[in-house]
Amino acid sequence: MEATLMDTISGLLPYAVDLVAVLLLALGIKGLAKVRSARSANGLAALALGLAVLGLLIELQPPLLAWLGIAVGAAAGGLAGLLTARRVPMTAMPQTVALFNGSGGMASLLVGLGVALYGGTAGAAGAEALGGEVLVGTALVERLSIAISVFVGAITVTGSLVAMAKLQGWIDTPAWTQSRSRHGVNIALAVAALVGVGALLGDPGGSPLWLLLVASSLLGVGVTLPIGGADMPVVISLLNSYSGVAAAAAGFVVGSQLLIVAGAMVGAAGLILTQVMCTAMNRSLLNVLFGGALGAGAGGKVGGGGDEAGYTRITSCSPEECALALECAERVVFVPGYGLAVAQAQHALSELAKLLQANGTEVSYAIHPVAGRMPGHMNVLLAEADVPYEQLVEMDTINPEFPRTDVVIVLGANDVVNPDAKTDSSSPLYGMPVLEVDQARQVFVVKRSLGAGYAGIRNALFELPQTAMLFGDAKAVLNGLLSELRELGVGRVKAA
Ligand code: TAP
Repeated sequence: MEATLMDTISGLLPYAVDLVAVLLLALGIKGLAKVRSARSANGLAALALGLAVLGLLIELQPPLLAWLGIAVGAAAGGLAGLLTARRVPMTAMPQTVALFNGSGGMASLLVGLGVALYGGTAGAAGAEALGGEVLVGTALVERLSIAISVFVGAITVTGSLVAMAKLQGWIDTPAWTQSRSRHGVNIALAVAALVGVGALLGDPGGSPLWLLLVASSLLGVGVTLPIGGADMPVVISLLNSYSGVAAAAAGFVVGSQLLIVAGAMVGAAGLILTQVMCTAMNRSLLNVLFGGALGAGAGGKVGGGGDEAGYTRITSCSPEECALALECAERVVFVPGYGLAVAQAQHALSELAKLLQANGTEVSYAIHPVAGRMPGHMNVLLAEADVPYEQLVEMDTINPEFPRTDVVIVLGANDVVNPDAKTDSSSPLYGMPVLEVDQARQVFVVKRSLGAGYAGIRNALFELPQTAMLFGDAKAVLNGLLSELRELGVGRVKAA
């Protein structure tokens, strides 16, 4: 009797561990929604995944040699992750995320391939115990799960590798990928992959599996290669969603509740993020995926927005003039953009903000959802410089505040402050929500030239009477402002 109770408890243990892991993961993901709790939430999610692996090992009780293999694999993967996280600069984060997505897709792909080739799923064992009739249904679900993990996993792996190589500047967008015939090739590959899926449902191994693998891998390359490098963050977010779908399918294959839940969450979150980014960029997903690299907004200087954009009423000023305006301002808003990240000027900016605050100035940072080149780019950049989270204000909250703002300093941002998005229906940005800095009393725009931003168009903000351009690299300009303000004695009197 006692032995039976113990057997029941040990039989239930893996499920209990899995359940705790699922709950911890859900809590972790919830915590990621807020910058303040994101770091600890990440730790919670990592703990959940570690527990899930432990639960699976308790259930499977692998032989000693397999334990050794798992330990070596986990140590090697952990070390690679640690080194990558420590070494990769903030500007290279998009390609790092692409690589991580690819790794997730690869794991799901290998699970699908491994089970298809060698069998042995958790679901099969349970189904056998339940009898033949259920086995037929379960086997079908398993084969479908295998097919999905191979199909979506392979697309994720090759798509992510291409995205990473493009962002890293290792490959360009070949001109031949811009021809319309690429759609025909991709459709043919998709049909071949679906034929593989259909055949795989009847026979889990053999040639359908290889047909599916090869066609899906080529499809991943075929859909990602034509897309312009600057649209890659959207594609990466979509591939992130795919990696979640592949993981959920792999969860069905190995009978892991955690993988199913985590995969479904990642799949849904990735899709939502993709939609949010497309809306904030004023593009449709179809336009990003099938528009190719040469359309407006692909990152090239299209739309006549380069240095020769025909600006006629530009006022430029010196750091000294800007410092004088800052000295008197009661309320200052900084608008960070891609150029701030390029210049790595976040520390100088945080120092300037502290100096102004010591002078009694109210300081905040206006964060546009797609400022920079990846979601949350500016939040991460400023967090690195210890900018307090509560000073980061989202677009919808800060826009009504601009009319009562004395000075706005735009730092390496361009499209996200372009007022044409609100007023000029012929502008490619028309309809895109922007930071309404033109409503402030005085605006300083810090950038190196009159060159265009990502959308490649001119910016009406530069010619407004309340705008002055402060030309130069963002870091150099901020350091210049710091020395001017120190010379003026700003911060010293009130702080003392
Ligand atoms: P952009 O419109 O790309 O403008 C960046 C500006 O920074 C450029 O005009 C450039 O002008 C300036 N700059 C570059 N290096 C600089 C440096 N060292 N010092 C000072 N300025 C420098 O940036 P944004 O306003 O952040 O807008 C983001 C754009 O990217 C949006 O169009 C958005 O749709 C797109 N996008 C965003 C995402 C995400 S998720 N964030 C994803 C894909 C695309 P100079 O060359 O004259 O210096």
